[in-house]
Amino acid sequence: MGKKRSASSRRWLDEHESDPWVQRARDEGWRSRAVFKLQELDRKDHLIKAGQAIVDLGAAPGGWCQYAANKLNGRGTIIGIDLLPIDPLPGVTCLQGDFESDEGLAQLEAALPPAEPGSHRVDLVLSDMAPNMSGIPVADQARAMNLVELALAFCDDHLASGGSFVAKVFMGEGFDAWLAAVKQRFATVAMRKPEASRDRSREQYLVARNYQGPPAV
Ligand SMILES: C[S@@+](CC[C@H](N)C(=O)[O-])C[C@H]1O[C@@H](n2cnc3c(N)ncnc32)[C@H](O)[C@@H]1O
Repeated sequence: MGKKRSASSRRWLDEHESDPWVQRARDEGWRSRAVFKLQELDRKDHLIKAGQAIVDLGAAPGGWCQYAANKLNGRGTIIGIDLLPIDPLPGVTCLQGDFESDEGLAQLEAALPPAEPGSHRVDLVLSDMAPNMSGIPVADQARAMNLVELALAFCDDHLASGGSFVAKVFMGEGFDAWLAAVKQRFATVAMRKPEASRDRSREQYLVARNYQGPPAV
């Protein structure tokens, strides 16, 4: 006999099936409903432009990569990484690895386009990463903050001057200090809640533009 679904996973499935963003993603041929969040941010903030080198952290199943690839239309580079496999996408280098691990980071760095020594080549860092929630709020918040802290460190190592950073973030312990660190590095910083982001989800999206580098110590 098959394993019974829990009430919460059944509720999630029911909600998913009746979600208009899910329907629309299917109708329009996108891999995920998440694509509409990036689309809204991009329409507002003009993030994705032909010729860019884009890194997508937590990219599976590939909606954001798909959207970026459509916009770049062969002019530029997109590298997506996820713990889960990402089905091949034209114009996208799909990596399976853990961005939090040294091996995953090394795999990602090896795929970046070449840069002159001392210069940074990435124009846009996207992070839609979210940890698997354990249900223990303090632990989940700490893990979510670790992901965005590492994404910001990745910006320091690879984002070109003037580049942009988009990150899903959860308000809670550690957020204010992280936001302050972002503000030290980018000329323009905004928090956004795209329409496709569920009201009851605590997630918000940071959009930081015009990277200036880490503060002098
Ligand atoms: C909301 S989904 C991303 C959806 C994607 N933006 C899209 O449009 O299809 C979040 C992803 O983050 C990934 N993730 C979480 N922690 C990660 C890590 N340490 N390294 C790589 N990927 C991670 C998860 O596996 C999950 O697929």
